[in-house]
Amino acid sequence: MNILTCGCFDLIHSGHIDFLNKIKGKDNKLFVLVHSDRFISTYKREPIINENDRLKMILNIKCVDDAFIDDNDYLSDETIKQYNINSVFQAVIGVSNWNYYYNNAEKQEIMNYIEYDTNKVSTTEIINKINTCNDIDYDNRYTKENILKSEKLYGMGFQSPGLEMILNTLLPNKELKNILEIGSGLGGNCLNLYNKYKCDILGLDICKSMIEICKERKYNNKITYLLENYNDFETEKKFDLILSRDVFMYINTEQLYQNLQKIKSQLTEDGTFILIDYCFGEISNKDFTDYCMNRNWNIINVSFYKKLINDAGLTVVDDNSLSQEYISYFENKELDIEMDVKENLNKKIGFLKEKSFDWHYFIVK
Ligand SMILES: C[S@@+](CC[C@H](N)C(=O)[O-])C[C@H]1O[C@@H](n2cnc3c(N)ncnc32)[C@H](O)[C@@H]1O
Repeated sequence: MNILTCGCFDLIHSGHIDFLNKIKGKDNKLFVLVHSDRFISTYKREPIINENDRLKMILNIKCVDDAFIDDNDYLSDETIKQYNINSVFQAVIGVSNWNYYYNNAEKQEIMNYIEYDTNKVSTTEIINKINTCNDIDYDNRYTKENILKSEKLYGMGFQSPGLEMILNTLLPNKELKNILEIGSGLGGNCLNLYNKYKCDILGLDICKSMIEICKERKYNNKITYLLENYNDFETEKKFDLILSRDVFMYINTEQLYQNLQKIKSQLTEDGTFILIDYCFGEISNKDFTDYCMNRNWNIINVSFYKKLINDAGLTVVDDNSLSQEYISYFENKELDIEMDVKENLNKKIGFLKEKSFDWHYFIVK
């Protein structure tokens, strides 16, 4: 039997392949009519891939015996005759809206509509996904509204949990002269560091709104807030403490490695780097992986983090999980926060509890 199906086959996906294999069956010849660019534009949208390239891809699918571009506005008797077609197949969702297009095939009683499995991908879905993909635009991610929403959750000056309590347990008890915070956010850590060490503090952040808020708040004139991407930050200055909390998850591994090398060059001889970051925990859970991917976070596990730090020429002198501190911080806390923030927090706490997410600190020399 000669089987025919017609379609755009724009952005070919596994749903197309499954459908073609299904209708080909055994011992049949499968012909594919590829709609022309002009025809597609009249009822859908201009295709992403042009007709010649779409044809080339279809012709290279194993189960397809022959394919051709067709610029007609309906399936003509001539085409059916030319390829000696015995059966025509079209995938539909619910009722077919292809009655005019397939009028000739219907009259010849060779038309079959088969239900498209909606659990499968569709080209429209792929395009929607591309359109809504997050990009790493900090000014969009961190709108003033979002920043202040998070601050309500984490406390004045912070975009991460624990106020100053968690960090204070990790800080060196000695005099310090110069401190750098990478990704200083709303400045809470810088202020806390100033209160403890009374020295020069440089808080650096990529997000304009964060820096603006810090400057408006005029925390202290020994603290400088700088709008800068740490990836591009160069200085001759050395720091005896560098801190980075919940920042490097926004940076890919190649860049992370370079930043770690840079940190090494910017630390004084006896300097300390305190790194706190989101890591993968010991239990793998696809939901947590998807959650991170959705946010364009580059999360790695603790042992790979340690390897990267070592490979960059630094030494991890202490490290441990802070997950319990994260969970305890929010436990039994009355929070005056919006529903979406609450849901997101509960999700994170769930991942921490099941150990797919590990909030981890590294003390590095
Ligand atoms: C989750 S917030 C944490 C803020 C702060 N460290 C705290 O503990 O509250 C992450 C911060 O990192 C900043 N950031 C992300 N990538 C950065 C980069 N490449 N250079 C500088 N800052 C960056 C973001 O703008 C944001 O303010």
